[in-house]
Amino acid sequence: MLTLSDGIRKIIMKLFLFFIILWGFSIDTFGASATKEGDSLRRRSPVSRAVADADGMPKEEGHTVYDESGCCGQCSRKSQDCCYQILANTCWGCIISQFEPGRIQAMNLLDLREGEQALFVGEGAGHDFAHLPEGIDLGRVHAFDFSSEMVKHAKIKAREVGIPEDNVFKGDTQRLPFEERRFDKIFFPLSLASIPNPQLAIAEAERVLNPGGRIVVFEKLLDEGVEVSCGKWFCNLFTSCIFADVTRNLPEMIGETPLKIMDYRSVRDLRGCASCFEGSYRLAMLGRSEDHPDLVSKRAVLEEE
Ligand SMILES: C[S@@+](CC[C@H](N)C(=O)[O-])C[C@H]1O[C@@H](n2cnc3c(N)ncnc32)[C@H](O)[C@@H]1O
Repeated sequence: MLTLSDGIRKIIMKLFLFFIILWGFSIDTFGASATKEGDSLRRRSPVSRAVADADGMPKEEGHTVYDESGCCGQCSRKSQDCCYQILANTCWGCIISQFEPGRIQAMNLLDLREGEQALFVGEGAGHDFAHLPEGIDLGRVHAFDFSSEMVKHAKIKAREVGIPEDNVFKGDTQRLPFEERRFDKIFFPLSLASIPNPQLAIAEAERVLNPGGRIVVFEKLLDEGVEVSCGKWFCNLFTSCIFADVTRNLPEMIGETPLKIMDYRSVRDLRGCASCFEGSYRLAMLGRSEDHPDLVSKRAVLEEE
């Protein structure tokens, strides 16, 4: 009995060390290469950056900004992608259905209207499609995800609701295959915390946002000024390798972009296990300061509700 529990203890210790090493390398190798690419993205002209055809549709699938030459860099990206590939074909629908109320609240905030172009970033298996408002032009809705398995499921859901299948594709939000000022509404549904370089993802979203457009984020976020607790830091060692970073906050991700926070609120009525983490989830609406001079820039803190 003693030998068995010793053995289990050793396995847990080894797993723990493995995840710490993987996590360390993921930040080191991934973060560095993504930032490098971010710099080169900014140097390129808008035209050379876009790899879209005349209709703005991506020509090629599955490109990535990462210089995945390092073995550990490849390992890290693949470990998270692998988790999502497995989840997509197993219990993803069941897990994510508990977030449905938050999704509906986010779609209300997005306020997608007739004639508007919409982009769903890190859309996963297409669970937002069922909540699109009636009367919009579904041909103007585009969605993508880094995980090819998620994309397969999203394409099926797209077909069911009437979104052209080609509008749903595999891609990397850190290098959007669209020209500047292309979308009126951009939505990050539970994806910003899973993207290795969220600053670059937000900068790219701002680049393709139409004047007057808005970006909506539904995510687990730390409010401004909140320190990362020891428990959260420890938990993040594991979660960031597997599915998401749980220590991100919006002002840091917005960085130097010309975006401001126009709305910031809590999410209500999540179901099942998700309700236990409800306090961590936020809905935020961003827009360019120059496009909304009348709206006061908000802090990423909850107001009395
Ligand atoms: C927590 S899941 C949420 C999926 C989906 N939005 C939903 O609500 O069901 C995060 C998603 O972000 C995707 N993702 C991670 N990094 C990405 C990237 N660089 N570009 C696009 N999608 C990415 C993952 O593949 C995964 O499907």
